[in-house]
Amino acid sequence: MRSIKNICCIGAGYVGGPTMSVIANKCPEINVTVVDINANRIAAWNDEDLDKLPVYEPGLKEIVAESRNKNLFFSTEVDKAIDEADMIFISVNTPTKTYGKGKGEAADLKYIELCARNIARVAKSDKIVVEKSTLPVRTAQAIKDILHNTGNGVKYEVLSNPEFLAEGTAIDDLLNADRVLIGGDDTPSGKEAKNILSGIYEHWLPKERVLQTNLWSSELSKLVANAFLAQRISSINSISALCEVTDANVAEVSKAIGKDSRIGPKFLNASVGFGGSCFQKDILNLVYICKTYGLTEVAEYWDQVIKINDYQKRRFAENIITTLYNTVSGKKIAFYGWAFKKDTNDTRESAAIYVADTLLEEQAEIVVYDPKVSEEQVYADLDYLNTRSEEENRKLVTVVNDPLKAAEDAHAVAILTEWDEFKALDWEQIYNSMFKPAFVFDGRRILDKQIMNQTGFDYYRIGEGK
Ligand code: UDX
Ligand code: UDX
Ligand code: ADP
Repeated sequence: MRSIKNICCIGAGYVGGPTMSVIANKCPEINVTVVDINANRIAAWNDEDLDKLPVYEPGLKEIVAESRNKNLFFSTEVDKAIDEADMIFISVNTPTKTYGKGKGEAADLKYIELCARNIARVAKSDKIVVEKSTLPVRTAQAIKDILHNTGNGVKYEVLSNPEFLAEGTAIDDLLNADRVLIGGDDTPSGKEAKNILSGIYEHWLPKERVLQTNLWSSELSKLVANAFLAQRISSINSISALCEVTDANVAEVSKAIGKDSRIGPKFLNASVGFGGSCFQKDILNLVYICKTYGLTEVAEYWDQVIKINDYQKRRFAENIITTLYNTVSGKKIAFYGWAFKKDTNDTRESAAIYVADTLLEEQAEIVVYDPKVSEEQVYADLDYLNTRSEEENRKLVTVVNDPLKAAEDAHAVAILTEWDEFKALDWEQIYNSMFKPAFVFDGRRILDKQIMNQTGFDYYRIGEGK
């Protein structure tokens, strides 16, 4: 079997950066070069100050510190790294299309295609090309077509190796993966390529956790895994609405059903709605593929998962408006958290953005505190929606770096991200500094209802009557 000496990863983002750092760390005999066309990003990966890495993940900086400039390199020299590599991971972004056919649903594959063309142009020796980005089923075929039609005699094996890491726990998910999935052709050279990639993961994972499948099963499994996880959240969130109008408590329901080993306890936390770069995008992809094949009922079934998620975000915002006597105009509302979940600085598709947008339409004034998200990011997220002018967003929204300050003279605090530090805040001080009645809307169910009520708050949380 061929041995791999040089790996190149195209794309130094949330997926490529952490994954390659772990591979380099666990495979000291392999040189790993992560390349990106974004020079700022590469500079940040190379920053002496490890707190300036472009991705924040617990455990990441320690791993980068150990391996960087030994066998882990970050570079903008894309062509050179492709040329030298035996194995190339494609880990570029695949956002939902914002234009043309499939707008709002299909994945935009232009970055993937550019990568494939780049590899085809540069490669002089045989390569194993691994698709790491989340892609619609049958993208590998497109990559194959581009690579195989260049006529320069280079042999390619295309593998699908979807990423299952979750943000905030990326390093742990990589080091202790439930499974690694490797899809490829069942030809002798396809099998060899799958075994070579398996060998890399077997540096730190038991062999039985590395599953080999055909290309299409691997690509589809990634979409389906995310669709199932998101479906669980939408299912419990739909029940949270029912709990709020009955005397049931969604946490008790989750616990009770999760004890059934056929259901299991994970991903049953009711929330203000799921966010992140994957769930919505992957379901939209699944829906689009089903429609393409004429499977209307299947497409509608999965689309409902997104509809409930939108409903949940809207419901949370509307409850704030109704509870504040049907008007939030000119009222200050403190947002605790902007990231799509705790322990990450990522805000893509975060529920906070949409809740803020609804409240801003009612002319609320929003003061945001998030321990990891920058002011520029908050404004960029709101501007991207195009609901109102950039000036108006800056007029109505302020971002502060002190949670107590955010709550001063506020009519309400809304908890959008489940950061641990919110539990440890001095809620009595917060209460004293707010307008009365002082409302707290807990979209993550992280606070103690009894204590909050005793402190004097009018405390509401998702999935429970007052
Ligand atoms: C997800 C998948 O978990 C991961 O396997 C895949 O590779 C990428 O997509 P990620 O988006 O990073 O990972 O985060 P995840 O922890 O799955 O959370 C997604 C969203 O669901 C967050 O907004 C989170 O707050 C929300 N969530 C999660 C809930 O509302 N309730 C839950 O019980 C779990
Ligand atoms: C079900 C619940 O399992 C049980 O907890 C509840 O108290 C009563 O309802 P039951 O209807 O007896 O029990 O059978 P179950 O084994 O759950 O199967 C229900 C149906 O689902 C069957 O038709 C079964 O063939 C089908 N099924 C089950 C599938 O099609 N696929 C599966 O993976 C599992
Ligand atoms: P993900 O969450 O999938 O990792 P990111 O957006 O965080 O997505 O990262 C993808 C990275 O891929 C970006 O830094 C982007 O600059 C890079 N990228 C996109 N296209 C190319 C390309 N053709 N060559 C090199 N890098 C690319």
